[in-house]
Amino acid sequence: MERCYYKISKKEHQHMTTHKTRLAVFCSGNGSNFRSIFRAIAAKALNAEIVLCLSNRSKCGAMEFAQENGIATLHLTEKQFDSFDAFATTMVTGLKERHIDYILLAGYMRKVPEAVVAAFPDKILNIHPALLPKFGGEGMYGIHVHTAVLEAGEFESGATVHFVNEEYDKGAVLLQRTVPVLPDDTPEILAARVLECEHALYPDALEKLLAKERS
Ligand code: GRF
Repeated sequence: MERCYYKISKKEHQHMTTHKTRLAVFCSGNGSNFRSIFRAIAAKALNAEIVLCLSNRSKCGAMEFAQENGIATLHLTEKQFDSFDAFATTMVTGLKERHIDYILLAGYMRKVPEAVVAAFPDKILNIHPALLPKFGGEGMYGIHVHTAVLEAGEFESGATVHFVNEEYDKGAVLLQRTVPVLPDDTPEILAARVLECEHALYPDALEKLLAKERS
């Protein structure tokens, strides 16, 4: 008798139901967002695994955390290559051979090469410490963002998880969450409040995306 559907093997079925989304996290610094995603996975709030920590810095909080937790690390900078193209190609190859599903930028202080953006369309996310489209773009990073928010007299700030395209902070917004700006805030105090918000937002945004894929 003919079947009018494609019968999948037990192994394929198991793979489909247990496949964990393979993440590469790109970092340059402390890596607190990287750790918050790691914790969400450990708590089974995300059906994913971090298979790679890529950094332009050989030593930073994120790379140390990855090494301590048995996550593969890749230190990659333009300086290691004769050309930018060779650098970008090595990055694409390193990601493809590890079968990366999503790239998460978490405090990565370099522009992602266009070749990588092209190789992973709609598969790269970034977290930004303000309510985009406000306070984004080149030069808007770290304490500069929070200083600009205070100087603009905003009553609220927050964090944004967005898709990455060729332009800084211009990709579609996936999820945003606000925090208040309080009268006595300094840029540092506001930065700490926003960062705490980021730690819940990034795993939630990723889960929103994965839930959409499951549906
Ligand atoms: C965060 O504020 C994030 O929004 C920005 O860089 C910072 C990274 O902090 N892109 P950490 O390295 O995750 O602690």
